[in-house]
Parts: sequence; structure tokens; C-alpha cells
Amino acid sequence: MTDKAQATEDGQAQTDGAESLTVTDNRTGETYEMEITDGTVRAMDFREIKVSDDDFGLMTYDPGYSNTASCRSAITYIDGENGVLEHRGIPIEQLAENSTFLEVSYLLLYGHLPTEDELNQWIYEITHHTYVHENIKDFMSGFRHDANPMGMTLASVGALSTFYPEAMDVKDEYQRHVSAVRLIAKMPTLAAFAYRRSLGLPYVYPDNDLTYTGNFLSMLFKMAEPSYVLDPRIEKALDVLFILHADHEQNCSAAAVRVVGSSLPDPFSAVAAGCAGLYGPLHGGANVAVLKMLQRIGSTDNVPDFLQGVKDGNERLMGFGHRVYKNYDPRAKIIRGHVDEVLEATSKESPLLDVAIELENRALDDEYFTSRKLYPNVDYWSGIIYEAMNIPLDAFTVMFAIGRTPGWMAQWLELMNDEEFKIARPRQIYTGPREADYVPMNERNGSGS
Ligand code: ACO
Repeated sequence: MTDKAQATEDGQAQTDGAESLTVTDNRTGETYEMEITDGTVRAMDFREIKVSDDDFGLMTYDPGYSNTASCRSAITYIDGENGVLEHRGIPIEQLAENSTFLEVSYLLLYGHLPTEDELNQWIYEITHHTYVHENIKDFMSGFRHDANPMGMTLASVGALSTFYPEAMDVKDEYQRHVSAVRLIAKMPTLAAFAYRRSLGLPYVYPDNDLTYTGNFLSMLFKMAEPSYVLDPRIEKALDVLFILHADHEQNCSAAAVRVVGSSLPDPFSAVAAGCAGLYGPLHGGANVAVLKMLQRIGSTDNVPDFLQGVKDGNERLMGFGHRVYKNYDPRAKIIRGHVDEVLEATSKESPLLDVAIELENRALDDEYFTSRKLYPNVDYWSGIIYEAMNIPLDAFTVMFAIGRTPGWMAQWLELMNDEEFKIARPRQIYTGPREADYVPMNERNGSGS
């Protein structure tokens, strides 16, 4: 029993201040007092609540971890009710406007904005780790010709661990740092190789004269020209997209990185788990699902019927809704501001843009969505930008993965330094049979009885 969760002698709570919770177990009549710290009670305090000495004690049940804080974190603050997102206290709007993706990466990982020297050193390090081992090309060629670029990225990030066995030494400061550098630096190279492989195009090697984002665009799109010519509007928009995706506290993929990281494998393996978490349509795969949805709707005339289908429960309005934001996702607002600029830079007309605008307007004006606090999330608009940049649909989630890599590594580093570190190991409520006997094959009737 902790000194914070005490069963009181006389059944009365010994409240020593306002920051406590008094719980009466009606099975026994016992009253317990638990400390409230940072708006939280400790789940382990409930274990003290028992009906008998050999009782296991109460557990908390929280499918999807909707109301469970799994760690203390100083990286990202979100106020979902008011649409606020801050990294290390700095509002995302300021970072998107004034910073660069590499500077934000440094901020996430090391907790403060870099000085000029620190930033130059950081950029130098990242730039000089963008190459991947030549064997990665052999590895890539093993995939089927039509392999999904996200599947290839996920597998090749995991494979990086075999190239850097020293990264297993997760207690070593230098190994932690250089693994973070390698992951952030190599992710665009792996992503671009996966993209080129899916199109049957030769790989383009990193160009150290370009910015992080410029180099990525070059590795994607360069053909026979000696040097890839960048449009600064596209370079800026993509850099902003990477910033907006850089971290988002304990989401599905960051939680996957922490859970896997808690068994202490190298960080490449933990980040591969993050990629896997991101792949699904309810998380990073939502940007693909949004574009497919817009393509399927096809024209603004079809928007009302589509929304009716959503309200009838036949499908979801992809790119809307968020576990934490119950207001307009601030990232969606910023991205929206870049859509027109990118379309102008690419001289493209997007018929899907009209559908997206009509869909958003109608949904925001519809009681079904407003009463559930469903607003556009970061992925509602990103697909339109990626499409205008000629990024194929299958590669949208890979773009997200590049942006999220510093966040995953910041979460992982924080976990490695956590004084309360424990391997992740949730509990369950067992609902299956007990004390069943093994039945020989010739006595089984197929129904399980
Ligand atoms: N379209 C229609 N209805 C929705 C949507 C949606 N996109 N999202 C939630 N709802 C409804 C649910 O049906 C539910 O209604 P009910 O109370 O009548 O049953 C209510 O809103 C609450 O939804 P939950 O599923 O309980 O919310 P949860 O927090 O578990 O899910 C999620 C959040 C997964 C993001 C959900 O909103 C969703 O599926 N959105 C679409 C996929 C998407 O855009 N994902 C990207 C998220 S951002 C990111 O990962 C980067």
C-alpha cells in the first residue's frame, strides 16, 4: 500500500487537503484516500482496494487508453478543447511561420531552440547521415514491383537496426544521439527509394547542397537534369507539413514507439513499430483515405448524399474527428493556408478541392458533426497538397512518417531518461473459459464442446 492510498481505520477518509480523492468500496464499507497529482490519480493506488487479503485488488479498465496518462512528458502540450498545440511551450503557429523542420526536430529532441552554432552543427550532422548503405538497394529490390511505399519504408527502417548493431546500447548517450540523427537523416532517403522503386525509376542519391526538404524533393523527382530545380513555395509548404506532423504527444504511433522501446530494443526497431502504427487509416493512413473518399464523392453535387451515408452510420467522414481535439485542429488551419499556394506553384487545378471545401462547409454546419465536436484534422487537407505535388496516393503516409520521425525519437529519448521507467505491460479482464481439458482429435465435434 502506498502512503497515498490508505484505508482508514474507522472507515472515514483522512483528508489532508483538497488534492485528494475519497473512495468508498461499497462491498466492504472501507474508505480510501488517494492523492490527486496533476489532475491524476495513480492506477496502482486502486490495487489497494480489496475485499480480502488474497484479493488481487481493483484494476482500472480503459480500452484505447482514452483516459489514461501513460507517462509524464515535457515535449508537446495539447489543449484539445481550445485547439492549442505547443512544442516545448512554443505555439505551432509560430513554429510553422518562423522555423524549419530541422530546427523543430532539434527543439523536440533537446528541449530548447538551438543557438546558431548548435543549429549549424545539427544541420551538418543530419546532412552527412543521409546516405544509406548500398545493401539497402538490394533489400529494396526484393520487394514486389507494386509494393506499398509505406510497407517498404516500415520494413527498411526496421532493417536499419541490422546495419547499426551498436544502437542496441541504448544506455549510451552518443548512441542515442547518433541513432536520432541517422533516423531523421535517412528516413527521406528510404522513403524516396521506396517511391522510385514503386515507379521502376533509378534511385537518386542525396544532394548535400540542398536543404532537408529540397533534398527529399530532389530524391523523389530528379530525372536527367544535373541538379533538381526547386520551387521555393513547394519546398516551404512541404517543410511546413513536416513541422505540423513532427509530434503529437501520446498518439497511436508514439505510444507504439514507447511500448516497443520499453523492452529496450534499438530505436530503429522502436520506430519501425511507430511506422506500423501510423500505417492504418485511423491514424497516418487517414490522408490516403481522405483522398480516396474525395475521389469517390467526385463532385460537389454528391456531397449531401455522402454526408447522409455518414450520418446513417455507413461510413466515416475521413479527415474529421480526433481523440483529443474537440475543436478545429490547429494544424489543419495552417495547412489549409498553403493549399492555394501549392496549387498555384504547380499550376494545377484540383477538382477535389471544390469537393473538400463543400464537404467541410456542410459538415461544419451540420448538427451531427458539431454535436460530436467533429472538425477537420491534420489529414483533411494534406492529401490535396501531396496530390498537387505529384506524390502518389500510396506514398502519402510515408510523408507523414518522415515528419513524425523526430517526434518518435523525442518520445523515445524521454522514455530512456524516465525515472519511472517500466516495461509496458497492460492488464486485461479475462473473459475466456477456465479449467478446460485437452480433447483428443478423434473426440472433438467441431463446436468446441
Ligand atoms: N465520421 C463520422 N462520425 C465520426 C467520425 C468521423 N470521422 N469520427 C468520430 N465519429 C463519431 C463516432 O461514430 C461517435 O459517434 P457516436 O457517439 O454516435 O457513437 C463519436 O463521433 C465519437 O467517435 P469515436 O470513434 O468514439 O472517437 P475516437 O476518439 O475513438 O476516434 C478517430 C477518433 C479515430 C480519429 C475518429 O474520429 C475517426 O475515425 N476519424 C476518421 C479517421 C481520421 O481522420 N483519422 C486521423 C486522425 S488524425 C491523425 O491520426 C494524425
